[in-house]
Amino acid sequence: MRIYQAEDYKAMSRRAANIISAQVIYKPNCVLGLATGGTPVGLYQQLVDWYRKGDLSFAETRSVNLDEYLGLSPHHEQSYRYFMQVNLFDHIDIKPENTHVLDGLAKNPEAECAAYNQLIRDLGGIDLQLLGMGHNGHIAFNEPGDDFGLETHLVNLTESTINANQRFFESRDEVPRHALSMGIKNIMNARRILMVVSGEEKADIVCRAFAGPVTKEVPASVLQLHPDVTLVGDRAALHKLAEAGVPVCG
Ligand code: PGA
Repeated sequence: MRIYQAEDYKAMSRRAANIISAQVIYKPNCVLGLATGGTPVGLYQQLVDWYRKGDLSFAETRSVNLDEYLGLSPHHEQSYRYFMQVNLFDHIDIKPENTHVLDGLAKNPEAECAAYNQLIRDLGGIDLQLLGMGHNGHIAFNEPGDDFGLETHLVNLTESTINANQRFFESRDEVPRHALSMGIKNIMNARRILMVVSGEEKADIVCRAFAGPVTKEVPASVLQLHPDVTLVGDRAALHKLAEAGVPVCG
């Protein structure tokens, strides 16, 4: 595992964008596993910037996203499809048909999950999977205690996740109770993993995930078993890991 500490959020975003950009330049038709959330916004902006300058093209790139809320249409402002359009896809030359996000309106969620697993296989697997991490160590919607062997599946969101999401909706009643999410097995099957973390509020969970034991109680800790993980964080998110004696590159 490689760990890079950047000075602040902007530097972290640039460093992480560099890794994605290198992947796309090295293999233009690569399959990128993409993530939503606050942390990756800056790195998506950086990629858009480089695309606009002519340094980068996504014309052959394929993408699969980690997860989607069940019950939200792709046009709902809180859907992850909408997030991806607004933060990345609408501003670069990726072909719409090459971008894949689980269908939040799927009539048969189990069938949608099975088809998504097949899609990932048909694409030849994920070359580089981008991840954020929740305050409880979740990755995608794989919550503490979830089985490490799961592929894409229907998730009952935990109270803590529903509470954390409430700020994005007008009322608590509107917050989705279910989601579709890649499982840990899909994530672990990716050839390379890039995790981004930012802010002091992530410092404890980063330390538990990467300086502590591998445990289902901290889903991200499973990444210690993956052969090619890069963690990029700002100083605030990584300082406790460094203090615990885990080698961190500047
Ligand atoms: P955040 O979310 O980037 O908004 O902190 C990360 C996550 O919950 O996976």
